[in-house]
Formats: sequence, C-alpha cells, structure tokens
Amino acid sequence: MRIVLGVGGGIAAYKVASLLRLFTEAGHKVTVIPTEAATRFVGVATWEALSGNPVSNSVFDDVEKVNHVRLGHEADLIVVAPATADLLAKAATGQAGDLLTNTLLMAHGPVLFAPAMHTEMWQHAATQANVETLRSRGVTVLEPASGRLTGSDSGPGRLPEPEAIFAAAMALAGSETSPAQGSHSGVLAGRIVTISAGGTREALDPVRFLGNRSSGKQGAALAAAALAAGATVRFLAAHMDVEPPAGVELVRVESALELREAALKAAVDSDVVIMAAAVADFRPAEVSDTKIKKVDGEDAPVVRLIRNPDILHELVERRHADGGQQLIVGFAAETGDAQGDVLEHATAKLKRKGCDLLVVNQVGVGRVFGQDDNSVVILSGHGADPESAAGSKADVAAAVIDRVGTELTRVFPAV
Ligand code: CTP
Repeated sequence: MRIVLGVGGGIAAYKVASLLRLFTEAGHKVTVIPTEAATRFVGVATWEALSGNPVSNSVFDDVEKVNHVRLGHEADLIVVAPATADLLAKAATGQAGDLLTNTLLMAHGPVLFAPAMHTEMWQHAATQANVETLRSRGVTVLEPASGRLTGSDSGPGRLPEPEAIFAAAMALAGSETSPAQGSHSGVLAGRIVTISAGGTREALDPVRFLGNRSSGKQGAALAAAALAAGATVRFLAAHMDVEPPAGVELVRVESALELREAALKAAVDSDVVIMAAAVADFRPAEVSDTKIKKVDGEDAPVVRLIRNPDILHELVERRHADGGQQLIVGFAAETGDAQGDVLEHATAKLKRKGCDLLVVNQVGVGRVFGQDDNSVVILSGHGADPESAAGSKADVAAAVIDRVGTELTRVFPAV
C-alpha cells in the first residue's frame, strides 16, 4: 500500500518515527511530508533514512513530477500525526500553502488524523468545530490520549501510541496487515464497530439528574479489544468513571435521547453495534429550566417519569428495515427474581430485543458496576450454545470481541 505520512510541528513528531517504522516493516511504501515546523523537531534526514524516500514539503521541489497533485492521487491512505491545531484548521478550511495541505486536498483514499496538542487547544471551540467539519466529510480524526503533556500539565492531548495509530490506519484502509511485533488477531480488521458505554443521565433541572452506577469500564475495555482486533471504533460515551481508550472516534452523550440520536447515526454504516451502555428506561416527564427550590411549608415535589425509547430494539428494527447485514449486540443486567433466574430473564430479553448476541451479567450492589472483574454468559439469537467468560473486564471484552468476529462470519458468511 502507498501511504503518505504527514508530520505536524509538535514535540510528538519524534514518536512518529516509530509509526513510520511500523508501516515500512509491514511492507508499505511511505512518503513522509513533514511541515516546516515539524522539521524543527525531527530533521529531514531522519525521515529520508527511515522511509527510504526523498522528503520535502515544498510544492517547488521536483516540479516536473507534479508532486502536489500526484502524491494525494496515488496514496491508498494518508495519515497525519501529530495533527496539530494548526494543521486541523488548515485541513478543515481547505488551505493549500504547502505540499502536505495540497496533498490532503488531492486525497483519493481514506485520511486519518492523530491529534496531539495541549488540552486547552484540543478542547477549544475552534479546534472542536474543525474536527467536527473534518469528520462530517468522512475524515477519521482519532481522539488524543490522556496523560502527561509536554510541560508539567496533563490531560487529553497526547498522541495515541504508534501501535494504536497503526491499528486504526490499517482498519481504515481495510488491510489485515499487522505490525511485525503486533498482537492483534485482526478478527475485525476493516470493520466499523460502534460501541456505547457508561450510564445515561436524565436531567431533572440544570443541576440534578437521575443516573445509574455504570462506570463505563466494560465498554472502554470492549473498545480497546475491538481496536486491537483491527476495527475502526465509534465510541458513544455516556457518563464514565474512566477515560475512553485512545484511538477511538469519540462522541460524548448525556441522556438516553442523545444516545439514541448518536447511535442511529453511527449505526448507518457500521458492521457491528454493541450496546454496552446502561440506558435509563425512564426520564423525568418535566425538566425544569431553573433549579428546583425547596419551599418551607410545601410538600416535596413528586417526580413523574416517562419511558425512554428502547435504542437496542430500534437499531434491530432499522437494520431489518434496511435488510442490512449488521451484527447487533446487547447487554443484559439481571438480578433474577421470583419470576425467574438470571438466565431465564436473559433468554426472554434476547427474544424481545431481537439482537444477535446478548451478553448477560448478574448485577446487584457491589457486583459488576464499578468493579474490575466480571463474569458473563454470551447468548446467541442464532442457536449457538451459550458461552461463559470470566476474569478482568479486559478478558471478558476480548472474549466478547472474539465471539463477535465468529458470529459475524457465521451469520453473514457473504460479508
Ligand atoms: N437498552 C437500550 N435502550 C433502553 C434500555 C436499554 O438500548 N432504553 C439496551 C442496553 O444498552 C442493553 C440492553 O438494552 O444493551 C438491555 O438493557 P437492560 O436495562 O438490562 O434491559 P431492559 O430492556 O431495560 O429490560 P428490563 O427493564 O426488563 O431489565
């Protein structure tokens, strides 16, 4: 595969030398285009030596080869890392002042940006609007990782690890090639997987909400396992106690209604949808615009609840309406009661929801929610035997993702 690797002017440029290595060791032909600023961090000689190709960012070098048109045209994939706030802005507004921005405008294949910058710059409304614009045009912009930044500060803004960028790039290009030292099994290589995680919050007034105990740990572990299996991951995060893994396309949501909108949108071209979020079944019927105050001598207010839509069920209905070959996975949190045990309730739920797989866990105070270990049974809507998985949430996630891979090829053999 021909890859153009654009390098932005940030300190993380040094990590991109390892990314370049992963690409070349996997047999890809890489042309590196560093910005002027990037060469202040890592010199042209390094890029030339590691890629085995000449390196320039000028539209006036080798003019007879028409590089500003040819490179973008011929590239099977363009990866920009680190994508600085400046580069994201230039790409979003279609500027063409140097060879890299020209190449981005001429792109014929998929384009992936791996941002790195200070947290304030990443969270600035201008940068977020640029990211939104690029994503709406079909460009993949990874979420930065969280952690120590250049100075003493820390927060979201670190470049995702080269292995994570490599996996996301290969998934985007639909290639199953893994890095020489890579470990992903590739069962989801080239697949788009949407995963919801965390607990929704249903507003009562501007300061209060009804929530649940979900920590989002299992959903985050599923996203990491799907990335490791080669998928492009759209991560719909409701309230979470942990950071989403670096390398996902992140959409933050708050309420069930917001999650519904994000899930229906993300599902349109997804191969797999996994609803791991704890979605509130009910929301307050009235949401006060102002803080609800206690008034001496008056009764406490009564909160009336109304039903939220069942997102999982709606996803299944829409999938059938479109005749789509999409695998839909639900999660069931069950306690068991006088009417039936956990498995009886789960089997009924699998039928009711109509999904392809249902991952069932037993809940209760201090059990599953917020814990680091989990134990589940995976039920199939297509007649396969139930399968148990236990261990850390990462172990359970790996088992679920593995099962998703097998079920995908079993249920839709032609895909
Ligand atoms: N779910 C959903 N939309 C809802 C409620 C739940 O998409 N409004 C999804 C969850 O993400 C999960 C599955 O449905 O994948 C099961 O959720 P759970 O709360 O366990 O089941 P319920 O449908 O709420 O059934 P019950 O109230 O009988 O437990």
